[in-house]
Amino acid sequence: MAAMPSPSQVADFRARGFHFPVRVMTEDEAGALAERIIAFDQGPVAARYADVANSLYRFKTYLVFEWADTLVHHPRILDAAEAVIGPDLLVWSVGMFLKKPRSPGFVSWHQDATYYGLDDADKVVNVWVALTPATLANGAMRFAPGSHRLGQVPHRETYDRDNLISRGEVADVAIDEGAAVDVLLGAGEASLHHLYLLHSSAPNRSDDHRVGIVIRFIRPDVKPLSGRDCAMLVRGEDRFGHFELEPRLRREMDADAMAAHARAMAIRDGNTGHRPSADRAASAMGAGPA
Ligand code: NI
Repeated sequence: MAAMPSPSQVADFRARGFHFPVRVMTEDEAGALAERIIAFDQGPVAARYADVANSLYRFKTYLVFEWADTLVHHPRILDAAEAVIGPDLLVWSVGMFLKKPRSPGFVSWHQDATYYGLDDADKVVNVWVALTPATLANGAMRFAPGSHRLGQVPHRETYDRDNLISRGEVADVAIDEGAAVDVLLGAGEASLHHLYLLHSSAPNRSDDHRVGIVIRFIRPDVKPLSGRDCAMLVRGEDRFGHFELEPRLRREMDADAMAAHARAMAIRDGNTGHRPSADRAASAMGAGPA
């Protein structure tokens, strides 16, 4: 297996705003994780509570599900993050991008920094892990090389129902589609991207699920602009204390896990002004998942 990104690959990341592929696990490991996620998504808990899967997948997934806890502590994934931002790592959140076969869900061109509320984009890296292959047919991401040098650009909020990002935000800049790079990945490979990198993805037109998860790593010296936020220490140490540290999952979806998730989401909702739908969903699940 390839090692963590080399110095020249990290230089490539700084020049273009991304780097891929990085092999972080075997195809079999990735396939097993994808199967668990698809099974949950098609299972009784997700069916019973309309937006439970969505809310649990969106930000603090690793506080609730074993597969997500495994991913955010995976040594090779942490090695990849460390190569870019250093040895002390907090996980700030994860985002599940599950595209069902032949489904309309897409992601508009955007910069992840737009709503993060963190004070330094250079101290953050997003690691996107393909748990199934990411192909042209199933809606692999597209990157606009060098766009991270633009800094923050304005976004319009469309709230398009089929847009998989929270506010359907669209970057208000001209995109050179011809220069965009398709992020084709095998199962178990990852891509790394900068918080200002413009990226998008098309719908899944294939007959298979496309399962990808993005893990958002930050250095402990990053400050939340809201003054209050939480994250989990996964490597090294936190000598700054800017974030309330989250407890690591012990048992999937137990009362402690659901309480930790509810607390983290409440802090987040306070930060972003999102309505606290995730809290209601989490309480409902804690009260009696079927
Ligand atoms: Ni994004």
